[in-house]
Amino acid sequence: MSRYSHAVIFVVASATVLAVLAVALVWLSKTVVERVAQRDVEMRSELVFNSIRDRIEREMGGDTQALRTLFERVTGDERILALGLCDGPGRMIIATKRMPAQFACPLRAEEVRFRGLWVDGERLVIGAFPVHSGSETGTLLVLHERGFVTERVGQAGWYLIMAGLTLIVLIGVLATLAVVMLQRRYMGSVLATIESLREGQPASPSLAAPALPVSDDVRKLLRDFRDRIRQEDTTNVEWSPKALQDLLENELPDTEVIIASNREPYIHNRDGDVISVQRPASGLVSALEPVVRATGGTWVAHGSGSADRETVDANDRVLVPPGKPAYRLRRVWISDEEQDGYYYGLSNEGLWPLCHLAYVRPIFRESDWQAYVAINQRFADAIVREATRPDPVILVQDYHFALLPKMVREQLPKATILTFWHIPWPNAEAFGICPWKEEIIAGLLGSTVLGFHTQAYCNNFFDTVDRFIESRIDREHRSVVHAGHETMVRPYPISIEWPPAALAGQKPVDECRRVVRERYGLPADMRIGIGIERFDYTKGILDRLMAVDELLIRHPEWKGRFTFIQIAAPTRSKLASYVNLQQEAQRITEEINARHGSDGYQPIHLVIRHHEPEDVYELFRAADLCVVSSLHDGMNLVAKEFVAARDDERGVLVLSRFAGASSELSEALIINPYDVHGMATAIDRGLSMSEDEQRERIRLMRNHIRERNVYRWAGQILIDASRIRKRLKVNELHSLGE
Ligand code: G6P
Repeated sequence: MSRYSHAVIFVVASATVLAVLAVALVWLSKTVVERVAQRDVEMRSELVFNSIRDRIEREMGGDTQALRTLFERVTGDERILALGLCDGPGRMIIATKRMPAQFACPLRAEEVRFRGLWVDGERLVIGAFPVHSGSETGTLLVLHERGFVTERVGQAGWYLIMAGLTLIVLIGVLATLAVVMLQRRYMGSVLATIESLREGQPASPSLAAPALPVSDDVRKLLRDFRDRIRQEDTTNVEWSPKALQDLLENELPDTEVIIASNREPYIHNRDGDVISVQRPASGLVSALEPVVRATGGTWVAHGSGSADRETVDANDRVLVPPGKPAYRLRRVWISDEEQDGYYYGLSNEGLWPLCHLAYVRPIFRESDWQAYVAINQRFADAIVREATRPDPVILVQDYHFALLPKMVREQLPKATILTFWHIPWPNAEAFGICPWKEEIIAGLLGSTVLGFHTQAYCNNFFDTVDRFIESRIDREHRSVVHAGHETMVRPYPISIEWPPAALAGQKPVDECRRVVRERYGLPADMRIGIGIERFDYTKGILDRLMAVDELLIRHPEWKGRFTFIQIAAPTRSKLASYVNLQQEAQRITEEINARHGSDGYQPIHLVIRHHEPEDVYELFRAADLCVVSSLHDGMNLVAKEFVAARDDERGVLVLSRFAGASSELSEALIINPYDVHGMATAIDRGLSMSEDEQRERIRLMRNHIRERNVYRWAGQILIDASRIRKRLKVNELHSLGE
């Protein structure tokens, strides 16, 4: 139960007890007043008796006339109604005028007695006092009016009832005021909590100070709401390049956007006299490129193409996309030797296997680290030179630039640095083997916002920070304060552009099938499975090939009726782990083809070549089924692209549970890539799936990706950035005013 409920119960209970007390007090006071008044009557009677007793006892046996006169005088008192004197035998020997005729003398009183009586509707008190004169005895009767007692009690009761009622009303008003105040303060707390949850910040002191603590239950509820609202905030919007532009104009007006990534979005290569433009096989690039096309700005990246230097201006800049310029690409040059240390070494032999649980041992060399530090500094300097304002929004991409946020922050303290880690973040123990873990974490904590694909990766990051560096972690507000700077840590599941540019201009699905079948020499009734990615050991390509083998062993009916086309873009080919993978894949493919193939039937087509996005989409459209069997993958955009390519609402996606995409695309056939048998079963099930089921599954996934496209991903990050910028501006203004 919350403190708020306790407070209300306390106030209501107190009010009830006080009300009961007030009623009891009225009753008690009435009784006391009545007693006091009664005693007053008795005392008056006694007073009268004492003042005339001597005269009575002296003259009792003698002159009764003198006594009568005395009695008449005494009854002049307005409240003494009558006096009477009775003799020993009980006869009334003297009675003043108002002594009721019917009133009989009581038996001789031995002691003073009082009793009440009604006469002609009037309430009276009669006091009987014994008198003695020698041997004679008698009784003096004093008849006293009692009406005034009733009146006094009535008045007192009335006053007390009024006082009681006033007290109850007062208590009620006070209780109501207290409840209203409590409620206000509590609502203040709730609003402050909502606000802080929205902003991902501790509630501001001005809001938090007068507020009541919000219980954990309410907090949890609010957090769930916050997540829902955050989602609805962005899902209710139709996210498109236009929506993103509007967001920038409205929320971040006059903002300069600078992106930094290792891989560049357009690579110029020379082949003899011809310069061609290549778009790289990189999930990062394919996600970010449409975003930058929408936002404009500058993209700072490594110029890796053989004709890159020839195509830039004097400031190493070139406008892209070629022929349809929308933003500036600023190329940074890296020598082969530096590339060996920074890119091949620390980034891809160290951090890549460190963060991906694919059982490839990370390698850490001091010289690689030195190169990594130097190139991060070079990029930081390039960004600072590109910035024309002191507070640009800088989007730093991926594990190549863990040190960059801190390096930029040192030169542009007012910059909003949004860093996105495109690969998984391992648990603290796994990350702990990195010799430069402290520097990497501190570098990332130079960011304003640090994004991962999933909450699980954020949690791993918090644990890692907690374990290895001095900092203040606020898991509730999802932030880390290190060296006096606060970094928000948030999940932003990345996606693809919608509709995908590569889908525009695609031929109908039947036509794509015909073209692809022709290209690979496949008969018209051949079912096609597809796998497309970089030739990377994290993608589970070998396991996938073995699953095809297993399928053909367990379901020989598919021989001659099913072919798997594996497209693999060569990548990082200088590294032994990648070279070995290629060789192993080729060997396994040959083995499987030899085992199950026959004249005119090749179960697996392994194509080791880069494909441009349009070719990739054509293959997706030609396939019956796509297999994404990553052993570990931050998100995996191939899965989303396959679904997006199928505007005919056909095709089956077989998807690894270890790819971040599986938490979004739950209508895929989810598999464990380490379980080859299970994967073969899923492929068989996919090939046998009815068209209706295919349609239902793919339709749901397409709706999901349409709504949660990459513009929304960027939008969410920019919305958070704009909130933080606004808050910092307000803080700045206030500190200036103080
Ligand atoms: C992953 C990384 C990207 C990288 C891409 C291609 O998706 O997260 O940063 O660009 O692989 O790798 P490459 O080494 O060729 O750039």
